[in-house]
This record gives sequence, structure tokens and C-alpha cells, in this order.
Amino acid sequence: MSGSIPQDFIDEVVARTDLVALIDRRVPLKKAGKDHTARCPFHDEKSPSFTVSADKQFYHCFGCGAHGNAIGFLMAFERLEFRDAVAELASQAGLELPAGGEGPVPRHKELLDVLEAAARFYRQQLGEHPKAIDYLKQRGLGSAVAATFGLGYAPAGWDSLLQHLGRTPEHRPLLLETGLLVAREGSGNGLYDRFRDRIIFPIRDSRGRVIGFGGRIMDQGQPKYLNSPETPLFHKGRELYGLYEARQAQRELPWILVVEGYMDVLMLAEHGITNAVATLGTATTPDHLRRLFRHTTRVVFCFDGDRAGRDAAARALQTSLPEMHDGREVAFLFLPEGEDPDSLVRREGRGAFLVRVGQAQPLSDFLLQRLRDQVDLHTLEGRARLLERARPALRAIPQGAFRALLEQTLARLAGMEHADLMRMEGGKAPSSPPRPRPTVVHPTPVQRLMGLILAHPVAAQWIDPSLLPLLKAGDTEAQWLLALIELARASPHLSGGGLLEGFREHPAEPLFGQLLIWQPERAEEGMARECRDICRHLLQQQARGQIDTLLEKAAVQGLDAAEKEQLRLLLSRRGG
Ligand code: GTP
Ligand code: MN
Repeated sequence: MSGSIPQDFIDEVVARTDLVALIDRRVPLKKAGKDHTARCPFHDEKSPSFTVSADKQFYHCFGCGAHGNAIGFLMAFERLEFRDAVAELASQAGLELPAGGEGPVPRHKELLDVLEAAARFYRQQLGEHPKAIDYLKQRGLGSAVAATFGLGYAPAGWDSLLQHLGRTPEHRPLLLETGLLVAREGSGNGLYDRFRDRIIFPIRDSRGRVIGFGGRIMDQGQPKYLNSPETPLFHKGRELYGLYEARQAQRELPWILVVEGYMDVLMLAEHGITNAVATLGTATTPDHLRRLFRHTTRVVFCFDGDRAGRDAAARALQTSLPEMHDGREVAFLFLPEGEDPDSLVRREGRGAFLVRVGQAQPLSDFLLQRLRDQVDLHTLEGRARLLERARPALRAIPQGAFRALLEQTLARLAGMEHADLMRMEGGKAPSSPPRPRPTVVHPTPVQRLMGLILAHPVAAQWIDPSLLPLLKAGDTEAQWLLALIELARASPHLSGGGLLEGFREHPAEPLFGQLLIWQPERAEEGMARECRDICRHLLQQQARGQIDTLLEKAAVQGLDAAEKEQLRLLLSRRGG
């Protein structure tokens, strides 16, 4: 459910965090009755509808529906990823984050330490090699940007890093694992440096920790660029060079430019465009996009204007479609033949480059243009083909206004009414935008028990034990209730928000979130009574069903001794 961090650790972190204090440090709160309120940090509003409950350890905005616990708040407000949000809270609570997945706990920390030590070494070597500094100067890179990005130089020779860090025996296996040292094939057990006589670009994760390196050769040799290999810490399909630095430069990123190369990111920064990131020699992945949209609402992809560039853009388009939730934008900037952002910004300057970014082709435009290019709109056949070709793309886009508008435009291009098109698609034309989250109006008895436990986790102790086997044999929501009871009983110190954490990305989470909001405040005594009443009601309902079945069987084929006894027992209980 939560990747590689153990659930009890996460629960512990949430339990040790004071949500009100956490939020108050970022969004000053006012006390209002039992709760605290503020103007919502997640949407524009005049009067406060953002509410934080200390009891439930849960926040909720009645305006925009944003809600969650401490982890959710940090993820949304600081735009952290799940793991990083947990790490942040853990460090505030004085807990050591266990390393997940492969290897024992301290491994990641050791790897990070050795990577940091290597970065320091390369940085210091840059200062001692005028040849490397001259290379950067000649490319137009100033020392401020070089320092911001922590650029370095890996000396020529086979063992500079080996001599510097590898003399400590414990470092060797770590340096091998990070790929900074390579084992010599065959003869003996020698080690040598991966990066030699190269400019070094440290690659940082979203918290600024060095997790890998890129290295560029300074003259004509091959390969021009060398990257760290994949390690438990470093996945090329996830990382974006420059994202950490971009966030350091600007807290709010109105848009992010995605370019191809390290030098593009650096030269744009040199010209004051600090919100560019580069993929690491891979195509854009869904992971990349999700990460980007955590930090901005507008992503602009930069591609060469040639055939290969357009093909790459088409692939990025496909990857983007499932991420096109309303409020997000993707655009494509095609560069003149033979230019990359590095050369272009140097030639044209910042202003002209920003004009190009402003004129980037919106995703919808690019998509429609590609579809139109494939068909002849002058014929009926061509227009039918247009719709046929568009179908997979439309299906990939999440439901919402953007998709509806695209459908409308396509229908118009094909000379068809939108409603007819939708009928063909077997759907219905949306009349109003879908409401994000339905509120619980008439909760079922099972949902009321869920609500009680979420509002007041001790209620899990009040559940009649004879209800549990019934839930186990019940429908989906009964199973969810059972899971909730089990979690609340196993971790009695958890708040409602803490319980919810156990269901992150679980299908029950939206319902639990709703119930937590819906649950009215009341005295513990009232809750205990309500809990008992619902349990009794559910058990009676179950007994009535059994009685009916047994009576029916008695009438049709008769009952055996055990069944008669069961019926007698059920009837006597009903009486009592
Ligand atoms: P400069 O020549 O320094 O301006 O680099 P560039 O960023 O213009 O390089 P290019 O467009 O050739 O490559 C873009 C990106 O692809 C680089 O930043 C690297 O991440 C990657 N790349 C380029 N060449 C190689 C290579 O030979 N090996 C590997 N692994 N990656 C490369
Ligand atoms: Mn270049």
C-alpha cells in the first residue's frame, strides 16, 4: 500500500505528529470551537472554509474538498512525494526512517553519504583543474550556476576517486554499488574509477541529496556523456535533472520546461530561466509526468523541429494523455533545425526564448493536427476515420471538461453533433462537470460504524465480537469495516487520520475520507450507545435472514435435529 516503508512505522509517524501545529507553522490557524480554521491554502477564497480537527488529526476544505492527514498535507502543501513526506515527519518526530526494499536499514544512508563525499571530491577537483573551469567558461557557464548545481570534475587517470575515498575499506563495496568504482574484468580484483577526465553533473533527488552523476567528456571522445548506472537510489525513468534546483529557485513553478540535456538546463539557468529540467537520456515516463505535475500545472516539452523530434513529441503526447486532468496543461515547443535550448538561448537571449515558450503548441492542437494529417476531411470516409483514429486518445484522457471539449471539437470537425458522437461511443454527453466527491447522505449501518470508528477509534473496542464472522462473510463494505476494526484494535493509539493512512490508495479510502468529514461531533456516551444499537441491528438482521431460511426449509423438506436446535435458539434470542 505504501511502497517499502513498513505500515507500523508510518502509523507511528502519523501518531507522533501534531497536525494542528504542523499546519499552523505554514498556514496560521484560528481556533473555532473544537476545530481550527484558515483560508484554504489549496484554492483561492475570501472566507475560511479550511478546517483542521485536532481530535481526528484530519483536515478538510469545505470549498475545494481537499482533505487528508499529516502526510497528505505535506504532500499537497510542500509538494513532497509520499516517501519524502513520511521522512520529513519522521525526522521532526525524531524517528529514523527504515530503508525500504533491498538491504538492511542503514544501507541507503551509507550509499547517500558516499555519494555526497564523491560529489564533494569532484567539486573540489574542479577548483584545482583550470582546464575544466575553462571548458565551462568557454561554454558560457558562470561560476554561480556551476556552484548552484554543484558541478565538479573527475580527474584523468584511473584511480583518483579510488585513492581519495576507496582507501577506507568499508567504502569500496558502497562505491561499487553506486557505480562510481568499476571492477576490472578478469585479472585480479582491481577496481577503477567510472568517471575519468569528465565534467561532473551531480543528480539530486527531490530533497537535494546526490543520488547519481552524469559526466561529460571535454573533447571529442566517446561516449560524450556517461551516467551512473541504475541503483536502488537512482532510477533514470524517475529522476529529472534540475528539478530540485528549480524548486530551490522558485517555490511556485507556474510552468516547467522539459529539455533533453544537462547543458540545456544549465544554460537556461545561466540566462535566468531556472525552471527547466532534463530527462536523463530516456524518453519521458508516466513517473516523470506525475512528478512534474506535483510541482506545476503547466509542462512544456522542448523538442527538435526535425522528424525525430516530432516522433519523440508524439511519444510524449501519448504518455501525457492519461495525466490530462482538468487544470493541467501540456504544450510542445519545437526548436528550429539544428538548435537546442542551450544554443538558442545563447543566440537569441532570454526574452526571445520566453516568447517561444509562450507560443508553444498546446497538446490539444498538436493532437488534432496529427489526427487531421492522417485523414481527408473532405470525404465522409475520411471524417469517419478521424473519429476512429481519435478514439484511443480520447479514452486515454481522464473524464472532465478537457476531454469533453476535445470531443466537441472532433465532432465539429467530423460534421457531427456532439450528442450523436457520444451516442456512438456508448456514453452520454456530460451536462454538468462531474462532482469530485459525492457526500454521504444516507449512510448504511455498516457505513455508520465506519464513521464512528474513524471519528473515535476506541469505538472499535465496542463492536460486538459476534458481528465479526458476519462481516467476514459479508460484502465489500463489510470487509472494509472489518479491516478498519482490525487496524483500530491493533493500533489503539491511532487517530482517524492515522487510521486513514492505513488505507492510502486502498479502494475504501474515498469512502473513509467522506465518512470522517461527515461524522458529526457528539459525546462519547452517545457514540457508545449508537455503536451498540447498530451492532444489535445488524445481528438481528442476520438472525432474521437465518430464521427465514430455516422456516422455509422446515416447510419444504423438514429440519434435522441440529437445525431445529439452531432455529429454537434463534427464535428465543429474538424474543429476548
Ligand atoms: P552538449 O553537446 O554538451 O551540448 O550536450 P547536449 O545536451 O546538447 O547533448 P545531446 O543533445 O547530444 O544529448 C542530450 C542528452 O542525451 C545528454 O544530456 C545526455 O543525458 C544524453 N546523452 C547524449 N550523448 C550520450 C551518450 O553518448 N551516452 C549517454 N549515456 N547519454 C548521452
Ligand atoms: Mn547541446
